[in-house]
Amino acid sequence: MAKLCVNIDHVTTVRQARMVDYPDPVAAALMAEDAGCTGITVHLREDRRHIQDNDVYRLRNLITTKLNLEMAAVPAIVEVARDVEPDQVTLVPERRQEITTEGGLNVIRGKKKLGKIIRMFQDMDIPVSLFVDPDKDQIKAAVELGANSIELHTGSYSEAKSKKEKNAELSKIKKAAKLSEQLSIITHAGHGLNLDNVIPVAAINSILELNIGHSIVARAVMVGMKNAVKEMIKALELARSAI
Ligand code: PXP
Repeated sequence: MAKLCVNIDHVTTVRQARMVDYPDPVAAALMAEDAGCTGITVHLREDRRHIQDNDVYRLRNLITTKLNLEMAAVPAIVEVARDVEPDQVTLVPERRQEITTEGGLNVIRGKKKLGKIIRMFQDMDIPVSLFVDPDKDQIKAAVELGANSIELHTGSYSEAKSKKEKNAELSKIKKAAKLSEQLSIITHAGHGLNLDNVIPVAAINSILELNIGHSIVARAVMVGMKNAVKEMIKALELARSAI
């Protein structure tokens, strides 16, 4: 089955809404680990709207699974990442006004800058993943740059309204996953996945890991963090056993 990295950003969205010290994202991360996830993901945004620097340091010290740090390729955040030394860095595009990450990286256009940052992290033995749309040219560019993995952006699939549109987006993800398998680059996926739409993506064998945040945190409000993570893991198991 695909591994599950739980993105806990929105635990801190609730905390930052009142500028208090609860709920604690580290406690949530430890519960998610207890429930069986294989990694914790956080996005340290330039505007610090949810996760704060101190959260990342505490997670680094206290979690026992993989720490995946999502970040824009900008000097101030690169500096924090170099100091924290996460187990993986995922480079994402970032716009201040967006509600959430809106698209994949333009690896083709950003080749020079991204290449430098990838090599810098790899020199520190930190693998780098690039968040890309399911687009063959972007995937090829990521491979050419020597990224350790890609994360396929599933946002268009998740947001598709009609069945026809959903199927078309799913078929782009399948094609992209096939190409990355042929090019021997490790493939992850994520964005907008929930219990209702995750199975077809989790059923794709070459997608090794899913990053899921908002829907798990939203579900945790209703059933608790451990149950929410367990439910998602069950769905991931079901996705592969159903083939
Ligand atoms: N992957 C990436 C690269 C993201 O930026 C996000 C959102 O922070 C996610 C996965 C998780 O998306 P969601 O919160 O919609 O599950």
